Amino acid sequence: MASLFNFSIITYLLPLLVIYEHQIPTVVAETTLSRVCLGCICEAASGCNVTLGCEESVCGPFRITWSYWSDAGKPTLENTQNTNENAYARCVNDPSCAARTVQGYMAKFAQDCNGDGNVNCDDFLRIHRLGGYGCSGYLNKKYEDTYKFCMQTFSERQ
Ligand SMILES: *[C@@H]1O[C@H](CO)[C@@H](O)[C@H](O)[C@H]1NC(C)=O
Repeated sequence: MASLFNFSIITYLLPLLVIYEHQIPTVVAETTLSRVCLGCICEAASGCNVTLGCEESVCGPFRITWSYWSDAGKPTLENTQNTNENAYARCVNDPSCAARTVQGYMAKFAQDCNGDGNVNCDDFLRIHRLGGYGCSGYLNKKYEDTYKFCMQTFSERQ
């Protein structure tokens, strides 16, 4: 039994510790999304259509829900309060306020969704689409392809 116990520690505990140690600095360091990253998430979400407005439970070019905006810290347009009745819709329909909302959400939920050892835009896309609690799940193919094509196109021009 003793050897079985030791085996368990090595197989389960050690990888957990390694992952844990690895994630803390990464999460803190890389929650600022680049312009290209934000633009390509926007592109995947709606073709970055800034005149879409609200449909059912989502608004704006990033297709943001009320609860996403709330988790992001309820950012607002300049000089308005987040207790205003339309604070959510007004913010997420505005490209700049919507981008701040995405930043705020990622600051809260940044994590290595695809298990590649980095927290980067590929993970932010997943968190944006699938939420902070299920970001390793299935990603819609068209959504991912639109994002990848955008990243390829704009990364080359930088
Ligand atoms: C953006 O969305 C609006 C409203 O759905 C639509 O009328 C318009 O054609 C769209 N623009 C683009 C560039 O797709």
